[in-house]
Amino acid sequence: MTVKEGNRFLSHAGVQYPIICGAMYPCSNPELVAAVSESGGLGIVQPVSLVYAHAYDFRKGLQYIRKLTNKPIGLNLLVEKSAKRYEDRLKIWLDIALEEGVRFFITALGNPSWVIEKVRPLGGIVYHDVTNAKWAAKAVEAGVDGLICVNNRAGGHLGSESPEALLNDLKKYGLPLICAGGVGSKEHYAAMIALGYDGVQLGTRFIASKECTAHEDYKNAIIRAEEVDIVETVKISGVPVSIINTDYVKKMGLEASHVVTWMLHHPKLKHYMRIFYTVRSVFLLKKSNSKGSSYKDFYQAGKSVDGINSVLGAKEIIDSFVS
Ligand SMILES: Cc1cc2nc3c(=O)[nH]c(=O)nc-3n(C[C@H](O)[C@H](O)[C@H](O)COP(=O)(O)O)c2cc1C
Repeated sequence: MTVKEGNRFLSHAGVQYPIICGAMYPCSNPELVAAVSESGGLGIVQPVSLVYAHAYDFRKGLQYIRKLTNKPIGLNLLVEKSAKRYEDRLKIWLDIALEEGVRFFITALGNPSWVIEKVRPLGGIVYHDVTNAKWAAKAVEAGVDGLICVNNRAGGHLGSESPEALLNDLKKYGLPLICAGGVGSKEHYAAMIALGYDGVQLGTRFIASKECTAHEDYKNAIIRAEEVDIVETVKISGVPVSIINTDYVKKMGLEASHVVTWMLHHPKLKHYMRIFYTVRSVFLLKKSNSKGSSYKDFYQAGKSVDGINSVLGAKEIIDSFVS
């Protein structure tokens, strides 16, 4: 499947193929990010993953990736209003990334204006994760260069609209649109490019890759799972996340209790609840990722599991998509 003539994402990112390995906490280990970029796609660094899950000093982690590939990489910044310490940390990470030559950024969850102000004078590009037209309008107003369209098939925090509906709603902005969610095979990739997307962002497919350091149990769970095994839960972070319906998940249930739901919507409490959930999910996901079923089989994955049948190298995945 050939991509559109003059594909703006390719020139924005400076890469060969319109395939992004999306940021994944805790699965974005530096070797995976580097392998995707080295193979002609765009590997995205997830800073919390790099520093807390994989224990790198942020600058040294970027420099390590640079040793593995000199091709472009990107950085993910979750810019939601949060604890002051986290917001300060984000600003430091952004400065370091710019100093280390990163020029492609994917923001999510909040207002990306301050990132755009900082990176644009240096030739940087900012794409923003959106799940619907309301959030897209805000991102466009802030001045983003492109939109990552997170649909209802995505792994991690998912949207509520189909890839087709999102494309229809967002094409009026005339920005490059990247399909995030549900792309696990060459056929899915070809279908999304034929539909009119400028590129795809994959998560789940790259967890089941040789370079991803996620536990074998996690990779095998992805290979075994089919679309019907993917369920949504609010129990990890307070907002819907798609996961594999393992025995542990079945035992635990998918819904938050009434009290927790009330607290998550309370104007004064919801901020603290979100912080609590974020911190809790950082530990839970890190342990499931590194220990597999011997801890808790709690695996984030999207409906793209349907097209994933084996663990492949990042280059094999990308080559098979674009061949
Ligand atoms: C385990 C996991 C962790 C994720 N963590 C993040 C994250 O930290 N930041 C982010 O913007 N997106 C995150 N995502 C979303 C991915 O970047 C990507 O958009 C999504 O996985 C695409 O759907 P797919 O899994 O069907 O390919 C995560 C996805 C997964 C599966």
